[in-house]
Amino acid sequence: MSKETNQLLGHADEADGIEEYDNPLPDWWVGLFWLTIIWGVGYGIHYHFIAHRSAEKALAAEVLAAEARWPAQAAASVEFVVTPEAIAAGETVYQANCVACHGAGLEGGIGPSFVDDEWIHGGDEASVIKTITDGVPEKGMLAWGPIIGPEQVNQVAAYVLSKNSENATKNRSSNRLIVSDGVKMKPKW
Ligand code: HEC
Repeated sequence: MSKETNQLLGHADEADGIEEYDNPLPDWWVGLFWLTIIWGVGYGIHYHFIAHRSAEKALAAEVLAAEARWPAQAAASVEFVVTPEAIAAGETVYQANCVACHGAGLEGGIGPSFVDDEWIHGGDEASVIKTITDGVPEKGMLAWGPIIGPEQVNQVAAYVLSKNSENATKNRSSNRLIVSDGVKMKPKW
């Protein structure tokens, strides 16, 4: 089929004397256009169904890598909540990782007690989370942040703090931790 080219459309009167041709796009141009469509469909199928990639998975992997690299910042970005669920989860984390040094009843042993009035590194939420995350390597307390991750650090901190507020006697009233169902408490730093 031959294309009729260079036919004027006759718009000159409406457009200040500017004429317009009704020429088809060059074949190479239309070809590129089709190629991008075919490429797009092919790429979409490959991305989602053959390579099973997804932006969400890529993001999750990057976040994990970043948390491993910057544990303190990661702990700060995960919300610290003191709920009965967080405390219960924290107890499991404690039983699995901390009993050997801090005792089954948190009474201490190799590491200090959590049910007395003394804190070496501070007994407020932020300090406790920080000590657990960064550890005190020279004293034998590991940096748990990279090992158990920020969420479990927060949970075990909630458990330790709740036990402390149940048992410590000094400043009892001001020291009481508020356990809530929905209210979220963020570390202060
Ligand atoms: C290998 C023994 C060991 C294990 C296991 C261990 N800790 Fe410790 N932890 C210590 C020692 C020792 C100290 C005291 C550090 C110091 O003297 O500065 C300590 C200190 C702490 C402190 C600071 C206490 C204060 O008075 O300021 C917290 C909080 C703590 N550990 C939490 C944990 C948690 C939570 C776990 C489990 C995830 C854990 N530790 C596991 C040995 C351990």
